[in-house]
Amino acid sequence: MNKIQIEDREFEILIENDNICKRTRLIGIQINLDYENRCPLFIGVLNGSFMFMGDLLKEITVSCEVAFIQVSSYSGAKSSGKVKEILGLPDDIHNRDIIIVEDIVDTGLTLSHILKELYKQKPASVKVCSLLLKPAALKEPLEELEYVGFELANDFVVGYGLDYNGLGRNLNDIYRTKTVVPSAS
Ligand code: XMP
Ligand code: MG
Repeated sequence: MNKIQIEDREFEILIENDNICKRTRLIGIQINLDYENRCPLFIGVLNGSFMFMGDLLKEITVSCEVAFIQVSSYSGAKSSGKVKEILGLPDDIHNRDIIIVEDIVDTGLTLSHILKELYKQKPASVKVCSLLLKPAALKEPLEELEYVGFELANDFVVGYGLDYNGLGRNLNDIYRTKTVVPSAS
């Protein structure tokens, strides 16, 4: 399927599942090397990270723990920049090695907010693993961003956990909105 329609928008294929899996395998290998004998705590950011988290963890061979948090900041196809409450944040992360798992880093505001809350508990280390990154949208450099699957232009994407108005999370591949050519009038 090269093109799909979700509600009012047409999307075209951007990254096929095969490529996502290959890239995820490589990231997993790197994490296994970096975290040997450290028992990291993976914290997935719901809802978007659920598929990536599942596939990534299948590649992880070091002893580890898993948790999920939820933050809501997004509605429709434009980042609101407003970050709300963080739900499910573990309260026992003092001295732990944390790996935050994200579907996508856009402005980075959501992550900055999460990081600020995490650091209050003085973890041993915090790194971020995001499947996707829109470098041009990033508001400030994020030094914790250690593992990135793919860098994207500032297109809106859906599939493989990512949604448009709640739809499309179940798609195997990642799609982007087709560029809208302005009319000559
Ligand atoms: P910020 O701007 O805070 O946004 O880095 C991070 C969160 O916003 C969502 N997001 C998207 N969701 N397609 C989506 O389905 C996109 O292109 C997109 N860009 C940002 C996502 O939940 C991310 O964690
Ligand atoms: Mg997310």
